[in-house]
Amino acid sequence: MNRPAPASAATSSTAPTDTAPDGTAPTYATTPAGMLGVPTTPADRLDELTARFPFPFTADRFRYSTNVQPAGVPVRTEVGGWGEAVVDVDGEYAAELAERADIVRRDPRRQATLPHMRPAAWDAMLTLMRELSAAYPESFTLEPLGGDEYRWHNALLGDRLRFRYGDDGTVADPMAYIGSQVQEDIVLLDQREQLYADAGVVTFAADWNFGFDLGMSFLEIHGPVPRIHEERVITRAHDFLQRLQPHEPYRRTNWTLTVGRRLDVSTETYPGWGPERAMVPSIDDDLFGELLHLRVEVQHLIRLADSGAVMFLIRTHLLPLRQIARIEPWRVRMANVLAELPEDMADYKGLIETRDRVADWLRSHGPHSGVGATRP
Ligand code: HEM
Repeated sequence: MNRPAPASAATSSTAPTDTAPDGTAPTYATTPAGMLGVPTTPADRLDELTARFPFPFTADRFRYSTNVQPAGVPVRTEVGGWGEAVVDVDGEYAAELAERADIVRRDPRRQATLPHMRPAAWDAMLTLMRELSAAYPESFTLEPLGGDEYRWHNALLGDRLRFRYGDDGTVADPMAYIGSQVQEDIVLLDQREQLYADAGVVTFAADWNFGFDLGMSFLEIHGPVPRIHEERVITRAHDFLQRLQPHEPYRRTNWTLTVGRRLDVSTETYPGWGPERAMVPSIDDDLFGELLHLRVEVQHLIRLADSGAVMFLIRTHLLPLRQIARIEPWRVRMANVLAELPEDMADYKGLIETRDRVADWLRSHGPHSGVGATRP
């Protein structure tokens, strides 16, 4: 298990952001490259982030599939590894949780627990505390005090909490509390005749909106995704999730591209980050490699033993293209995947404007420029 490094500021900014006349959306039309105000990954964070990065491509071609595998199995990569625990704490811990707190303060709809989900929220809180203390015993302690009482200590944040499991008088909002202790976004699904997303804390959604999806079924949520219905990916995933057993967690990865080191690219904050996508075609190659990030979600699927709810964890990792290009097998593979990605999938992922340039950029930034990557 990698121990968390000291927390650092999660982002650095290349320059102050221009502001639109209405004071909300940034505009870039007259801003020279290098002065865009888009958050980038600080150079001193690159080594740790790369060593733990869950590079998602296992072939030169990517298609949606019900790509689930047992959790907790370590994955070795060319430069490190990931996947030992269902919770993942790294050097961004304090900064990402501060960012989450700030987002929730501005927009309380990012977290919710429908009334019938109280028991599931308690279950999620205790389960995640157990996972944290098992994976990182130097940083987190969960001490049973007898009966349903526990003492929790988070040495990274200096948090202490004494609570009685299920007693709302001891923790007012268990979902909110556990959301302040893990870097993962959390969704809890209630299993009735289908699975329904009835609780969660989601501050780092990749172009979707938790407030909008709250109360929707698993099948409704996946409605906009192309191909997966014809190819039965989602109905198979739904069957699989309904049969999920306690103590047998599974995981999958998902990916997209983000302009800048931006965790919060939720639909509702589009006015803040959408224009950054639009200005990409006009930036120079150096800045392109620094700003474009491969965004990978490690998603865990866990049946909570007490309440029977399904817990869905989403841990988001971001790495700039420039860093991907330094690892030769990653550079070649990602170039091939992007060049081959079908139009409808590129469109859904919001990559129509950028994917060719990403593929070309990766090809021309190898040790022997262009060698190794093939255009199909
Ligand atoms: C085995 C389980 C699952 C599979 C195979 C699966 C598959 C997918 C796929 C292929 C996409 C499209 C992603 C992309 O191209 O960027 C997607 C999007 C999404 N998934 Fe899942 N998913 C699973 C579990 C879940 C669960 C449990 C939730 C709980 C809420 C969820 C919520 C979402 C959301 C909100 C989106 C974005 C949809 C949109 O853009 O409107 N997924 N999923």
